[in-house]
Amino acid sequence: MNEDSYLLPLYNRLNVSFVKGKKSVLYDEKGKDYIDFTSGIGVNSLGYCNKELVKTMEKQANKILHTSNVYHIESQEKCAKKIVELSTYDMKCFFCNSGAEANESAIKLARKYGNTAFSTPKYKIITIQNSFHGRTIATLKATAQEDKHKYFGPYPDGFIYAKDITEAINLIDDSTVAVMLELIQGEGGIYMQDVNKVKELERTLKNKKLLLIVDEVQTGVYRSGNFLMSQYFAIKPDIITLAKGLASGIPIGVMMTSLKDVLTAGDHGSTFGGNHFSTTVCNKVLDILEEYLNSGKLESNINYFNKYLDHLVDSYPKIFLQRNGWGFMKGLVLKDENKLSEIINNALENGVLVLKSGKNIIRFLPPLTISKKEIKEGFNRFEKTIQQS
Ligand SMILES: Cc1ncc(COP(=O)(O)O)c(C=O)c1O
Repeated sequence: MNEDSYLLPLYNRLNVSFVKGKKSVLYDEKGKDYIDFTSGIGVNSLGYCNKELVKTMEKQANKILHTSNVYHIESQEKCAKKIVELSTYDMKCFFCNSGAEANESAIKLARKYGNTAFSTPKYKIITIQNSFHGRTIATLKATAQEDKHKYFGPYPDGFIYAKDITEAINLIDDSTVAVMLELIQGEGGIYMQDVNKVKELERTLKNKKLLLIVDEVQTGVYRSGNFLMSQYFAIKPDIITLAKGLASGIPIGVMMTSLKDVLTAGDHGSTFGGNHFSTTVCNKVLDILEEYLNSGKLESNINYFNKYLDHLVDSYPKIFLQRNGWGFMKGLVLKDENKLSEIINNALENGVLVLKSGKNIIRFLPPLTISKKEIKEGFNRFEKTIQQS
């Protein structure tokens, strides 16, 4: 393969390039097929070439792709309504193009709230160790992994790191405005927060009129088996951010909030955010996924997937410690972190794609519509890989 001579060397890419996909299977230039347990890191929620979605895209491309947010965009309004209704929260939406932008928007909203709602301004945002909130300067600083901060300062002030939720509660002081967290840390090891601890945090923040920001960029859009992981936790965040799976491959992000009047015209915006194309596609994806959830197939296939993960943990105790995660966001914890890259590379050779998370976790984020047949074949190939390890 020709090296990426004109590309900055920002990624440790695996030695493969895909030319097409169908359902949850990808094909390389030689026609070799790969079962996809990664969905482009949680993006391709409907897999590849979903017929209904392709039709929607064709139709919309023949009508209109983009106008600026200077004008009304009907599909954006419809999409906001749909997202709010699915969330069951009384919120409003702002559309952008990625997870980092959604979190950046959440940070701006929290800062304006902190600067306007109290007699003395509040600005500190507490985040949790090993979190991942994005790669812009502010969201990188919000990401509580200090090894990633080394070269890019100076940063905006006011991000405080807690080792866990109990410490986050203890760190709240007079200048704190919000706590921001992932209910399952995606990049940080498929680590799920304790429901009761999160509820305690929610109560503490509500009592002080401070904000709970939940980053659902990876956990959201049915990845957890519910539309939002926050619904499973039975919490009511003040701000939720979404991106990845919303439009199954078309860039889109959302910051949704119950603080409907804090940001006003001119405070924030986006050129591309919420355009005709991305929101029309998002509307269709959400319709398909809602129906898929209601059919019971999502839950049934998550359970089917779990059986294979449990089988691997039970059968290979020298390799795996346990399985982590929830819904279709799963991790297998390796005993030996040195085996992580080898297993991912060998899995690729054997025709199944898996991801890493943290130092020693094999991460599984399959398309939400993956079939039982594809799951079975993917795990056959993955088990063969484990037997070779
Ligand atoms: C929880 C979480 N937040 C934010 C982001 C950043 O999203 P993006 O890469 O779309 O900017 C990610 C990406 O992996 C994520 O997992």
